[in-house]
Amino acid sequence: MAAKWLKDAVFYEIYPQSFRDTNGDGIGDFNGIIEKLDYIKDLGCNALWINPCFDSPFKDAGYDVRDYKKAAARYGTNEDLYRLFEEAHKKGIHVLLDLVPGHTSEEHEWFRQSQKAVKNEYTDRYIWTSFCFEGAEGYPYVGGESERSATYLLNFFKCQPALNYGFHKVTKPWQLPENHPEALATREAMKDVMRFWLSHGCDGFRVDMAASLVKNDDEKKSGTSAVWRDIRRMLELEYPDAAMVSEWSNPPLALRAGYDMDFYLNERGNGYSTLIRDYQNHDGEDHSYFKKDAGGNINRFLDQYLTWYEDTKDKGYISLLSCNHDTLRPRYNLDEEELKLAYAFIYTLPGVPFLYYGDEIGMKYLDIPTKEGGYFRTGSRTPMQWSKSANLGFSTGNSEDLYLPVDPSEDAPTVEAQEADPSSLLNTVKAILKLRHDHEDLQADAPFAVICSEPGRPLVYRRGNLILAVNPDGNAKEVKTDLGKAENIFTLGTAEYKEGTLSLGAQSFAVFNV
Ligand code: NOJ
Repeated sequence: MAAKWLKDAVFYEIYPQSFRDTNGDGIGDFNGIIEKLDYIKDLGCNALWINPCFDSPFKDAGYDVRDYKKAAARYGTNEDLYRLFEEAHKKGIHVLLDLVPGHTSEEHEWFRQSQKAVKNEYTDRYIWTSFCFEGAEGYPYVGGESERSATYLLNFFKCQPALNYGFHKVTKPWQLPENHPEALATREAMKDVMRFWLSHGCDGFRVDMAASLVKNDDEKKSGTSAVWRDIRRMLELEYPDAAMVSEWSNPPLALRAGYDMDFYLNERGNGYSTLIRDYQNHDGEDHSYFKKDAGGNINRFLDQYLTWYEDTKDKGYISLLSCNHDTLRPRYNLDEEELKLAYAFIYTLPGVPFLYYGDEIGMKYLDIPTKEGGYFRTGSRTPMQWSKSANLGFSTGNSEDLYLPVDPSEDAPTVEAQEADPSSLLNTVKAILKLRHDHEDLQADAPFAVICSEPGRPLVYRRGNLILAVNPDGNAKEVKTDLGKAENIFTLGTAEYKEGTLSLGAQSFAVFNV
């Protein structure tokens, strides 16, 4: 059973490096997040996901944790973070931290101990082969770095050794079975980290690479799922209101493993990618559904989404998102008018949606050099653009000290400018999120059904007693459908329902009460 507060939750993802710097050192901080809680609330978001903000050498932007229980000094202290939980709660905002259970930094004390030749408590906390020249078939590994005569498995970059949750299918003597006491000890250590933050007021976790724990797992991820179900039992007993969202992108498996929500992530050619990021086609053309006149077909999304939705609707939530810190911003290929419709759709679907900081004003993807292991992702991680003042209001520090440069373009969107313009993207996002909060039928649990998804026609769908329609095309469109005494309660662009005909102007979206 998913935590009740998720029913009307809309999450805002904060990359803490780049949100708001209050001490002028060029990097965002906890106090900056606290300062902007009213902005987040006013936007219509009532929950946060903060990317890893723990002590780290930052070779992968903090996804290389050196100390799970210590806030990274560059963002503030543990006390500052506890205060952030408190201040957020006062405003009705829940806070999820980012849990990285599959690996640590190579600088984590557990790993330093594990590298020693003499056996100790952490010898099996990571996955080691039996000999310095023995590799780990099928997994990336590193040798030659440790006193211990063995090589160790990696979970991602070279700086991220894999924690040991055991192997589902054991094929080598150095592979521990998933129920081995040492594998269970790793799981208990992770529960301890979770309890630590939950006891200090955090409301749950976004879980990094959630499917990666048990190695040599089967297709259904039985081994890894058993770990999560056990962790879920602990939460049910000790923190029943805690919420967990997985980076898995397979809701049928993730929700059965005990997650409340699973992200539907951008993978080239999958259903979600066809909505806003279908720009790497064989013909070089952009066929994204929300790209005006791109001839996109919504069924490419619906076919996958509906299968998952039907399979999981009583188990938990599918989380759609504008973007995240690993993906090109949607403004990369969509203009503001196109984004308005894409957001109208994403934020009126069932499940629990996420908004990536800055997408509400259409921040651009910048072509800039890599930072902290970001590579192409770095361009989606630049400082939030608050106003036209120095550093676009992100920091009072020197521009050369900023974590990343701010958007240098003349037309860089800002919160300040968009707040003053009633038809801005920001005000449109606010209106859409307000509509969602005002109507239970638009929230996580209300039913969803497609009424018309014929290519070339507006998409028409039902949420409870509401009928919604969207036309991303540059031409006006019509659908013949009986909506009875439909009353129009929300419109972007133009829309009308009259005697069995629903007419939508070019690039429009409408909601009817029926
Ligand atoms: C997924 C995270 O979202 C990404 O930013 C990170 O680099 C990898 N996992 C490794 O932790």
